[in-house]
Amino acid sequence: MTQPQAILFSSQPATVQPAVLAADLTRIFGSPPSVVHALNHLNLSVPAGKFICVVGPSGSGKTTLLNLVAGLDRPTGGTVMIDQADLAIFDDDHLARLRRTKIGYVQQAARLANRETARRNVMLPLLLGGADEESARRRADEALARVGLTDLADRKPPELSGGQVQLLAVARAIVIAPSILLLDEPTSNLDLDSSLQMALLIDEIRSQAGLTVLCATHDARLMELADSIAWLKDGSLERFADRRSVNIRSDSVSTR
Ligand SMILES: Nc1ncnc2c1ncn2[C@@H]1O[C@H](COP(=O)(O)OP(=O)(O)O)[C@@H](O)[C@H]1O
Ligand SMILES: [Mg+2]
Repeated sequence: MTQPQAILFSSQPATVQPAVLAADLTRIFGSPPSVVHALNHLNLSVPAGKFICVVGPSGSGKTTLLNLVAGLDRPTGGTVMIDQADLAIFDDDHLARLRRTKIGYVQQAARLANRETARRNVMLPLLLGGADEESARRRADEALARVGLTDLADRKPPELSGGQVQLLAVARAIVIAPSILLLDEPTSNLDLDSSLQMALLIDEIRSQAGLTVLCATHDARLMELADSIAWLKDGSLERFADRRSVNIRSDSVSTR
């Protein structure tokens, strides 16, 4: 077996442990003869406190990777480690608890409760985690303020614009004060104004001490915020580079 490439890619001193480590990660969908290798022996190490953008063409495995890191899906092979813990040893309840306490995930199509108010949507992860109503409400209102939705807290998702729904999904992800934030193309379905607002918000959130961000995107503005950029191709890590060494505008075009 070859040495996991992740070790070679880490630019951190050996004492800094990765917040997220994917080693030889493989996810195969379907069954023969029509199988898809969504992830193909992928190695990626994300140091704690860093912001990594995952880029690559549609179908390269970005969402599959985020789902595995979130524990929403299980790998066919290889390992996902979160803070040195192998997710394979966690049962589904334990993974759900991890998502309620440690990992905030903004999925590409936000799954919000359309019959509940924006505030209630943000309170839900806290209530599921056992918080009392009053503290859940207070923390939800803080998160809504952070994303600029205070005035819309009593509206339901169908009464919000696409950009506002996406901001609400971010509020729901950050309300738990996660140590890892996963963002799946957070600006891809937004108009220019909304995507600028989202990029500013993500820049503000990422400045929180110790927060690790893994963000799948095609958006050069988000790539510019990153510490490092990981290129996926056909489910493997094609390249990993310090953002300062990357010409974002031209590279983002060429990796679309
Ligand atoms: N649940 C699934 N069933 C079958 N194929 C899937 C499933 N999820 C993803 N795939 C396939 O895996 C590959 C990677 O998909 P995905 O991770 O969504 O890529 P990306 O997010 O980079 O666009 C694609 O070929 C996609 O069609
Ligand atoms: Mg995707």
